[in-house]
Amino acid sequence: MSVSYQELGFVNTREMFTKAFAGGYAVPAYNFNNMEQLQAIINGCGRSNSPVILQISSGARKYADQTLLRYLAEGAVAMARKAGYQNPIALHLDHGNSLELCISCIESGFSSVMIDGSHLPYEENVALTRKVVEYAHGFDVTVEGELGVLSGIEDDVIAARSIYTDPDLVEDFVKRTGVDSLAISIGTSHGAYKFKPAQCSRNEKGILVPPPLRFDILTEIEQRIPGFAIVLHGSSSVLPEYVEIINRYGGKLEAAVGIPAEQLRQAAKSAVCKINIDSDGRLVMTAMIRKIFAEQPQEFDPRKYLGPAREELTKMIMEKNETVLGSAGRG
Ligand code: G3H
Ligand code: 13P
Ligand code: ZN
Repeated sequence: MSVSYQELGFVNTREMFTKAFAGGYAVPAYNFNNMEQLQAIINGCGRSNSPVILQISSGARKYADQTLLRYLAEGAVAMARKAGYQNPIALHLDHGNSLELCISCIESGFSSVMIDGSHLPYEENVALTRKVVEYAHGFDVTVEGELGVLSGIEDDVIAARSIYTDPDLVEDFVKRTGVDSLAISIGTSHGAYKFKPAQCSRNEKGILVPPPLRFDILTEIEQRIPGFAIVLHGSSSVLPEYVEIINRYGGKLEAAVGIPAEQLRQAAKSAVCKINIDSDGRLVMTAMIRKIFAEQPQEFDPRKYLGPAREELTKMIMEKNETVLGSAGRG
């Protein structure tokens, strides 16, 4: 049985991005795999009155089942409205890899899909993306395409090295595919190890400082497709305070480096209208759970460690919306 996203209370990303572009901020796209992450996203974005894109990756679909996650997201809208939050909420497929998958998500009520053909030869990426757009637009579902390859390793997103987006291709890609937004590669990457220590310098406190993002490429892209919504994947800051807690309580995250908040803030003020964050949420939950396990070894009720992890994630999301994305108060 198919259901439309409008019936479920979601919105597509079109108006979100128009407003974000005009307002000089970016809409947060947070990944979720379970109930606690979803509650934290809904409460964090609801309390900060931020528009939000709930993202489901293929790793999440494998872990928790696409149907269950979709029903959780539907319930999350009801929960948000009951709490009095009126912020717009989109349900988005992250890194979709086939037309069939995009169709199945659209039929089950997603309001936005990404078709990631970035690993394909250019003409194949255009053809696949075009097909998804033709189908999705029939239901007023918005589509994100990708040009350029991000490095990094996650369960289902793997690339050995990044290939920056070629500004010479973006106009042709956007015109021929009809996509609503474009993910680009300017130096971000997936996961907690975005840069090798050899690529970084050290600041006066001995903390690793990564090389800056390629804002020159972003500027060129903006000139080729003025007013068009750009997306940044791999945009966790790999928050040092949570990496420190993880390591203090027995973890081993060495040389984990992310994108500095100031650079994300700068991107959010430009044509970047959507910023993807997954790893930071994972780090927050892991840090809190490790701390509780170490400090309260007698505890065995999952609510006693998942609850505080959820609360800390809510706080982190509010902080990010307010100080990094600039999306707080724009709901
Ligand atoms: O884009 C990558 C996301 O962080 C999802 O990763 O497939 O391991 O859930 P995942
Ligand atoms: P991070 O790994 O930096 O959180 O990026 C997530 C992402 O891009 C999801 O699509
Ligand atoms: Zn991604």
